[in-house]
Amino acid sequence: MTQMVPIDTIPDEAVERLLDRAFGCDRHARTAYRLRAGTWAIPGLSFALVEGDALLGSIQCWPVQFDGDDGTVWPLVLIGPVAIVPERQQEGLGRRLMEAALAAATGGPPLTLIGDPEYYGRFFGFDAAATGSWRLPGPVERHRLLARGVNVPAIPGVLGPRRHATAAA
Ligand SMILES: CC(C)(COP(=O)(O)OP(=O)(O)OC[C@H]1O[C@@H](n2cnc3c(N)ncnc32)[C@H](O)[C@@H]1OP(=O)(O)O)[C@@H](O)C(=O)NCCC(=O)NCCS
Repeated sequence: MTQMVPIDTIPDEAVERLLDRAFGCDRHARTAYRLRAGTWAIPGLSFALVEGDALLGSIQCWPVQFDGDDGTVWPLVLIGPVAIVPERQQEGLGRRLMEAALAAATGGPPLTLIGDPEYYGRFFGFDAAATGSWRLPGPVERHRLLARGVNVPAIPGVLGPRRHATAAA
């Protein structure tokens, strides 16, 4: 039976192996990694799917912050990576992980991610409507910079790590 567990019950090396398989070993150079530099995944929003001893998938969420050019500061949550082992993709497991994180994030800061709009838009209501004038610490394909929720800052500004976040943020 497939079970959802908090990701911090899984050894870090096992999660890293899963992410290498899903994204390739060059994944650390991606802009999404720069957005979470110096922060920790939010425990209450980060999950793994296991079957017996096998790790089938994981989702992690990170505290980030948007600094508007008008001086406003907006806490946000960055979702990702979401990864399912290649041999178990297309079974609805990615959707289970996303739904668990979205449910746990209800009532918290708005959500953002860098990902395929064909997946995250179609199933989970993310879009790039608000993010057109956001600046990031690295290259990003604009149509893949997505957000969801009320209170998403649709203004020019900079998205970066939220270094003073508490574990529960
Ligand atoms: C993307 C990923 C998390 C989806 O999880 P999954 O368990 O395979 O997908 P689900 O079973 O929940 O959903 C399947 C549906 O999503 C669609 N889908 C999956 N990945 C997609 C993508 N990248 N773009 C568009 N649609 C996608 C499938 O076509 C399928 O649609 P259907 O129901 O109409 O046939 C998983 O495939 C994965 O880990 N891929 C490699 C890493 C990756 O690309 N992560 C996301 C980065 S943006």
